[in-house]
Amino acid sequence: MVAPKFSTKPKICYRPIRPSDLETLEHIHTKLFPIRYEATFFHDVVNGCDIVSWGVVDSNRPDGRCDELIGFVTARVVFAKESEIVDLLGYDSAKSDQTLVYILTLGVVDTYRNLGIASSLIKEVIKYASSIPTCRAVYLHVISYNNPAIFLYKKMSFKCIRRLQGFYLINGQHYDSYLFMYYVNGGRSPCSPLELLAAIVSYLRSGFKLMAARLCKSDDRKISKWAKCKESHSLVSPTHNKRNLAVECTGYDVV
Ligand SMILES: CC(C)(COP(=O)(O)OP(=O)(O)OC[C@H]1O[C@@H](n2cnc3c(N)ncnc32)[C@H](O)[C@@H]1OP(=O)(O)O)[C@@H](O)C(=O)NCCC(=O)NCCS
Repeated sequence: MVAPKFSTKPKICYRPIRPSDLETLEHIHTKLFPIRYEATFFHDVVNGCDIVSWGVVDSNRPDGRCDELIGFVTARVVFAKESEIVDLLGYDSAKSDQTLVYILTLGVVDTYRNLGIASSLIKEVIKYASSIPTCRAVYLHVISYNNPAIFLYKKMSFKCIRRLQGFYLINGQHYDSYLFMYYVNGGRSPCSPLELLAAIVSYLRSGFKLMAARLCKSDDRKISKWAKCKESHSLVSPTHNKRNLAVECTGYDVV
């Protein structure tokens, strides 16, 4: 249904994100997210360096800005064995070249919400993941209070797999995140007793590591550590995902 806020009926078109989108992309990210993304992230998105993305425009805009982004999704292909959710996949995933698609950012500008744009973008990501023979799932994190996004992922048949306590650190305050996952290409959760045991051990181990890390380090030390990472790593690697970005984030408003 078209919202009454439009004087002309929007004509929603999906297209690749290009270098000329850089400024708008940065602007929308700044507006929509409490996390500040580095310049390298935007550079990688618009140039397709290790990141896949889809952009959305309204080619019927009355103001003539028919090629200006009004929505986007960005994602990265990661190795399952290097991901934090390897224990949620079949036992073979820990050994083989199986991959996952990790959604980095998804957003639609306010005026164009509730038109099904984000749903279409997620469908594109699922289609893309399904086209990669080694890919077993699409996954993402969402901050625990982001109800529109949580409803959206549930509606799209993503499964909420975990609640990660204190996953995000924004303005010195911790926020939980949910990890949502959508299996593709016959990907499945572990089900043999051995797989289940491996999954439980891995889960406990990661929980133990997290607890140990928390006991050892104060928030301030964490921030300076991630500030160092900022200088030496690309923005988001399979093991340095949104969470690390959140830790880097200081002095900004919450979602
Ligand atoms: C979350 C977001 C991407 C949704 O974009 P959108 O294009 O409006 O989403 P859609 O129109 O495809 O919505 C589909 C479903 O999402 C859910 N949804 C969307 N907006 C909602 C809202 N305000 N409240 C509750 N559920 C909502 C509903 O389940 C909806 O299905 P329905 O229309 O059948 O009820 C958009 O609100 C946004 O950009 N938010 C800010 C950035 C953000 O939070 N990104 C996600 C980070 S993980």
